[in-house]
Amino acid sequence: MHFTPAVALVTLASASAASAGLTSYLAPAALAALSLFTKPVPNTGVNSKWITKTFTVPHTPGADDSPAVIAALANFTANSTILFKSGVTYNIWTPIVFSNLKNVEIAMEGNLTLPTDVATVQGIVGASVSCSPLDYDAHSPIGTNVTLRGSLDPRTGWIDSHGPQWWDTMNQVNRPHLINFGVTNGVIKNMKIVDSIAWNFAVSSSNNLHAYGNYIDVRQRPGGGFPFNTDGFGAGGKNLLIEDNVIMNGDDCVTVGSGGQNVVFRNSYCYGGHGLSIGSLGKGGSVASVHDILIENVIMDNELYGARFKSWTGGAGIAQNITWRNIVVKNVPFPIYVTQNYWDQNLGPKPNTTGGTNTLVDNFTFENFSGTLRDTPYVEGTCISDPCWYFVEGATGHETIIFDLYPGTATNIKAKNINIRTETGVKPQVMCDPSTVSSSYSRLLAY
Ligand SMILES: *[C@@H]1O[C@H](CO)[C@@H](O)[C@H](O)[C@H]1NC(C)=O
Ligand SMILES: *[C@@H]1O[C@H](CO)[C@@H](O)[C@H](O)[C@H]1NC(C)=O
Ligand SMILES: *[C@@H]1O[C@H](CO)[C@@H](O)[C@H](O)[C@H]1NC(C)=O
Ligand SMILES: *[C@@H]1O[C@H](CO)[C@@H](O)[C@H](O)[C@H]1NC(C)=O
Ligand SMILES: *[C@@H]1O[C@H](CO)[C@@H](O)[C@H](O)[C@H]1NC(C)=O
Ligand SMILES: *[C@@H]1O[C@H](CO)[C@@H](O)[C@H](O)[C@H]1NC(C)=O
Ligand SMILES: *[C@@H]1O[C@H](CO)[C@@H](O)[C@H](O)[C@H]1NC(C)=O
Ligand SMILES: *[C@@H]1O[C@H](CO)[C@@H](O)[C@H](O)[C@H]1NC(C)=O
Repeated sequence: MHFTPAVALVTLASASAASAGLTSYLAPAALAALSLFTKPVPNTGVNSKWITKTFTVPHTPGADDSPAVIAALANFTANSTILFKSGVTYNIWTPIVFSNLKNVEIAMEGNLTLPTDVATVQGIVGASVSCSPLDYDAHSPIGTNVTLRGSLDPRTGWIDSHGPQWWDTMNQVNRPHLINFGVTNGVIKNMKIVDSIAWNFAVSSSNNLHAYGNYIDVRQRPGGGFPFNTDGFGAGGKNLLIEDNVIMNGDDCVTVGSGGQNVVFRNSYCYGGHGLSIGSLGKGGSVASVHDILIENVIMDNELYGARFKSWTGGAGIAQNITWRNIVVKNVPFPIYVTQNYWDQNLGPKPNTTGGTNTLVDNFTFENFSGTLRDTPYVEGTCISDPCWYFVEGATGHETIIFDLYPGTATNIKAKNINIRTETGVKPQVMCDPSTVSSSYSRLLAY
């Protein structure tokens, strides 16, 4: 078990959160913690012995630094390092799309700043289906044996997207994805991300990826707008090990979408977001496949959900063999929440659920949860409809577990060793219609 470092990390990260305000983004203690997690990477990423050349990205004050990288790429697609050097703040004003890399290290040791002008970013995103600032190719894998790394020096290696001006005005028009990293044999380590406009890492087209020691701080400012859709890791890829990360955001800490297979997410700290999620699956009748997922040793601090599964009515396919274990929730309203009736408040009223098909749910385990359930009234920042999109009809607010299932589409769901206290002291409750679970319900919910 690698849980000890995560605990140390949490202490430090909480301390930084408590110190509040913008200065906390540089809390040295929290950053120093990242160095605890530098470790040898087994069989993934770049083979440094083969690196024969380095492109040090030049910087021109007041100008866009992306074109120089794009121009040089042809000569550095194999056995190379592309170095954004320490001490420089690079202007990444246009997207850099990497492709066909073979054994390449992208070292982001300097600071990177995206355009500060909202309209500029919207123009770029609106004009292109494939790229957005720093989007490493939205469509296809970018290469084989690729390492993307930041810096262990807390003073440098930050990527700043200037998100608050978007969040404060709820501007959701043409928002970019920050980093789309699809590789075969990849590493993402020690990256430091701050104030992303929306989504952070998309690794769903990766196979064999180790992502660790990354620090994502997309926290809502006190009194500021909510950072909508700022998912930490979109992780519907294959053979992914995502560990030892700090993710403070306003949407899923991790979300495993369709295609996810053999994904481990562990030893991490999540703050302010929407849970350790599978889904959403089956939207618009699509056929989903997610299997062999393990999420363990995570602290969920002030998140809306802890463990979460979401599929849409009318979908098909299966989500199978998914385990969440050793999860600590702190002030979380929905510690364990499974719904086969997910909907989007922006797309109209909650759909009716009679007579539809559904993504099957099989072999879900929730084990060893502890901490506190937020069961006092609250309105989360994403609530823009009445009732809120996360409102559960018939719930008392004291539920540690909600299984909102279709009849006959869920098998072998287990919850054991769930020790979550309500903040009000009321006895915790469970919401589930046993008739919706096909088998073995009666031995599931042991406190
Ligand atoms: C990279 O270097 C290795 C070791 O020298 C070599 O075998 C391989 O062909 C090189 N890759 C490319 C694409 O040149
Ligand atoms: C690539 O390298 C060749 C040979 O060194 C050089 O002539 C060419 O200018 C380089 N291309 C770029 C875009 O830097
Ligand atoms: C890099 O960014 C961080 C965070 O914004 C800042 O504190 C630091 O001074 C910057 N470093 C340089 C060399 O500009
Ligand atoms: C990737 O790394 C593996 C293991 O070092 C090596 O066998 C393979 O040739 C590398 N492939 C490329 C394209 O560099
Ligand atoms: C279930 O998934 C885990 C990974 O989380 C894997 O180790 C295990 O082999 C899977 N079990 C089955 C029966 O496929
Ligand atoms: C489902 O769980 C049962 C035991 O509860 C196990 O025997 C079976 O291998 C699991 N199947 C998958 C696909 O995870
Ligand atoms: C249960 O989870 C807690 C917190 O994640 C952990 O400290 C403890 O070791 C776990 N217990 C078991 C039996 O794994
Ligand atoms: C759901 O069904 C009810 C009663 O049949 C109907 O009034 C309502 O409009 C339906 N809602 C949707 C979103 O289709």
